[in-house]
Amino acid sequence: MRPTPPPRTYRVKSFGCQMNVYDGERMAELLAAEGITPAPDGEEADLVVLNTCHIREKAAEKVYSDIGRLRREDGTAPLIAVAGCVAQAEGEEIMARAPSVSMVVGPQAYHRLPGMIADAVEGRRSVDTDMPAETKFDALPARRKVGPSAFLTVQEGCDKFCTYCVVPYTRGAEISRPFSDLVEEAKKLIDAGAREITLLGQNVNAWRDDSNRGLEKLIEALAAMPGLARIRYTTSHPNDMTQGLLEAHRDVPKLMPFLHLPVQSGNDRVLKAMNRSHTVDSYLRILDQVRAARPDIALSGDFIVGFPGETDAEFEDTVKLVEQVGYAQCFSFKYSPRPGTPAATMDGQVPMAVMDERLQRLQAALNASQTAFNQASVGKRCQVLVERRGRYDGQWLGKSPWLQSVHFTGDAAIGDLVEVELVEAGPNSLAGRLV
Ligand code: SAH
Ligand code: SF4
Ligand code: F3S
Repeated sequence: MRPTPPPRTYRVKSFGCQMNVYDGERMAELLAAEGITPAPDGEEADLVVLNTCHIREKAAEKVYSDIGRLRREDGTAPLIAVAGCVAQAEGEEIMARAPSVSMVVGPQAYHRLPGMIADAVEGRRSVDTDMPAETKFDALPARRKVGPSAFLTVQEGCDKFCTYCVVPYTRGAEISRPFSDLVEEAKKLIDAGAREITLLGQNVNAWRDDSNRGLEKLIEALAAMPGLARIRYTTSHPNDMTQGLLEAHRDVPKLMPFLHLPVQSGNDRVLKAMNRSHTVDSYLRILDQVRAARPDIALSGDFIVGFPGETDAEFEDTVKLVEQVGYAQCFSFKYSPRPGTPAATMDGQVPMAVMDERLQRLQAALNASQTAFNQASVGKRCQVLVERRGRYDGQWLGKSPWLQSVHFTGDAAIGDLVEVELVEAGPNSLAGRLV
């Protein structure tokens, strides 16, 4: 690599889950603290960070095509850093395959970007996929300006080793950030404009403090902070759904009535093959408990169709589960074999055409469920947190307590909590009227 002038502008592109988005925001703040400014819309940046996701197929291919697209007519390219979970999984390979990439940095090492940029400027390429014990969070600059709804990563990593999943490999073992650091960062977020905080973790409900108290302790502490109106958390694992957390849904009004609790399949044999370590029945019992604690709770989940060996009848069990639970929203995916995971080499890989058909059927059931949930909300009054302007003059977009997108027109500003009556429902959003 030839030496290049120090970058003056940057762009960070995030492709993954909310934690990946959070990391992207933190990298942007880190670059800003180095005096590098965001590239204006439509203009090329001197430094591009591709913050990648490795969860499903084509992620890596997508990275290579994005790298290719950054090449200029004259064959040169901006400084390119590949970050995120593909970087963690395939660091050396990216370096070998993509000579225009000068930095590869994993999700636990990105606080070291400034040093890597200095190297790149002098013409030295670098890979850093360490999972250092000294945490990146201590090394990152303080939060400055955020929107009304902000993310806060409280837990990282996963010890569950579901047989299809790369996260335990790309994000490492489960760790919880210290309580006092989180209270500190939450205060900064509120000062920076947040009215809602979503606590994030690959298994957020596995968060524990030094004296082994669970997420409800953090939720209670945040609920006591003036200026903060709403608390959410995601993603949860059924096995970490403790009594204390369920009770927080009953006792803490600022904790929003929404629970994203992935189940993946409605069939016990498939769940076992996935190493999910819960059953359909134990999952349903948790939902009963959370509904008892908070009767209006909106439920959400993740589903995988076509896990190796899944039969038609086993897939039908998943559809039945969806119809039985009545989800407010859901994510569903075709099983994607990931290199290095046990499921990738299991017998009975399901043909793509069968997966396509199953996904369609499941999504039809999920859409029906979501539409029914939204229609049942019509006539309710609720608070909406205004997040941005809508497409039309005087129109605003925000979220209901149940995480539905609500649009309305009238007098409001970003960050307001306004009272609306929900008057009309579609599958993906609702119309509200200010009251
Ligand atoms: N920790 C969370 C999920 C994180 S990954 C949990 O266990 O619930 C987000 C979702 O991606 C998973 O819930 C799963 O539905 C999906 N997913 C993960 N690996 C996958 C794979 N190999 N193929 C298809 N979907 C996958
Ligand atoms: Fe992946 Fe399972 Fe861990 Fe979720 S719990 S991140 S699906 S291994
Ligand atoms: Fe993707 Fe990594 Fe998140 S693989 S889903 S960015 S934890």
